[in-house]
Amino acid sequence: MSGFLTGLECGRCATFYPGDTPRALCDCGGPLLARYDLAAIRAAVTPADIARRAPTMWRYRELLPVREDASIVTMMEGFTPMIPAPKIAREVGVGELWVKDEGVNPTGTFKARGASASISRWKELGVTRFAQPTVGSGGHAWAAYGARAGVEIHTALPVDCPDLGWKGSLINGAHVYRVDGTVGDAFRILSEAATRYGWLNAGAGREPYRVEGKKTMGIEIIEQLGWDLPDAILYPTGGGVGIMGMWKVFDELEELGWMGSKRPRLVSVQVAGGAVVKAFHEGLDECSGAKHVDTIAPGIMVVKPFSDFLILRALRATNGWAVGVPDDEIRHFMAWVNRHEGLFLSPEGAATIAGVRRMVAEGQLGPASRVVVFNTATGLRYPHLVDGPVPIVPGSGTIDDAAVARARTAALMGHPDPQG
Ligand SMILES: Cc1ncc(COP(=O)(O)O)c(C=O)c1O
Ligand SMILES: [Zn+2]
Repeated sequence: MSGFLTGLECGRCATFYPGDTPRALCDCGGPLLARYDLAAIRAAVTPADIARRAPTMWRYRELLPVREDASIVTMMEGFTPMIPAPKIAREVGVGELWVKDEGVNPTGTFKARGASASISRWKELGVTRFAQPTVGSGGHAWAAYGARAGVEIHTALPVDCPDLGWKGSLINGAHVYRVDGTVGDAFRILSEAATRYGWLNAGAGREPYRVEGKKTMGIEIIEQLGWDLPDAILYPTGGGVGIMGMWKVFDELEELGWMGSKRPRLVSVQVAGGAVVKAFHEGLDECSGAKHVDTIAPGIMVVKPFSDFLILRALRATNGWAVGVPDDEIRHFMAWVNRHEGLFLSPEGAATIAGVRRMVAEGQLGPASRVVVFNTATGLRYPHLVDGPVPIVPGSGTIDDAAVARARTAALMGHPDPQG
């Protein structure tokens, strides 16, 4: 047996399940976290070894749950760029700001990381049929990695999700169910079917391996800053898998001796009225009482994340924060960043920049702060958010003064925020 995984530990009751039994949740219903022999990893590998490896998330192979290299299902995901964005930093009032751009991953989102880690490990354990509830991007990633691995994916999403969500999944050969209801309805209906048909429910936090893929985002930030820390990491939070993953891996890196006891402040950004933001500021240990909100950023609107108590613990343990942003601020920063930095962020990514601005206004960040924000998906997945009166020129015609004037008007209007 190879690999450094020792077993799975319940995040709720701390029961430990050693070895390689296929198990998604604790007997108590709590979420499971993968544990490793960190002393053995420390003896086996150093950051200098890692620096020589290929630029994918699998460069952190020892900290990932797969036993055999042959089990790895990869499309070279991860090790995404940290793009310095000095104009954004100036605009929102912080010292330095990097955009960790997950949009360059296969299928255009950070979901590639969870899909790669999870499908690799479950297939190694002999599990080949999965249910993936989604607002679009998760289903597409699982469908793509499922196709590569030759396993069966069932995905359900609300009918009003962007077309690419179901079309991307379909083209990869997944079973797609479009639900005429909310994302909550889609999750419930697919979970019931998963139980009925014996599919593994791979929804956020409901199995232990997606978070292992996502935690590599945290290692990368530290490695890409030369094993240094930013002051804060703003993460658009839905199921909270990325926040949990980064929190978990920072503890692992400290135990490896690759970082000290100081942590970047982990910050959850959600739509205004978001469940995690509400619970954080009300001092609660779990989310309760949040309502569904219609938004252009569906990835950061989850009424009750499955592992809510762990997300809140991660925020508080790192002296973190939580901030809600309304759609008009998200539209504003999608427009502003496109026009001034050339980056087509997802609405979820743009929300983090609105979040930085709000934290500066609240005195939580300032001109000395070094900040990393996550763009969790490429804006290219959201063409429905861009529109404008672009002139149609006949094939036999010319571009005249009137056409130029109309194109200029369109350039001003053809955007989520005409004032942006
Ligand atoms: C684009 C985007 N960003 C962020 C999230 C939230 O991710 P997490 O579950 O890690 O909180 C999602 C989830 O669907 C998403 O699609
Ligand atoms: Zn338990």
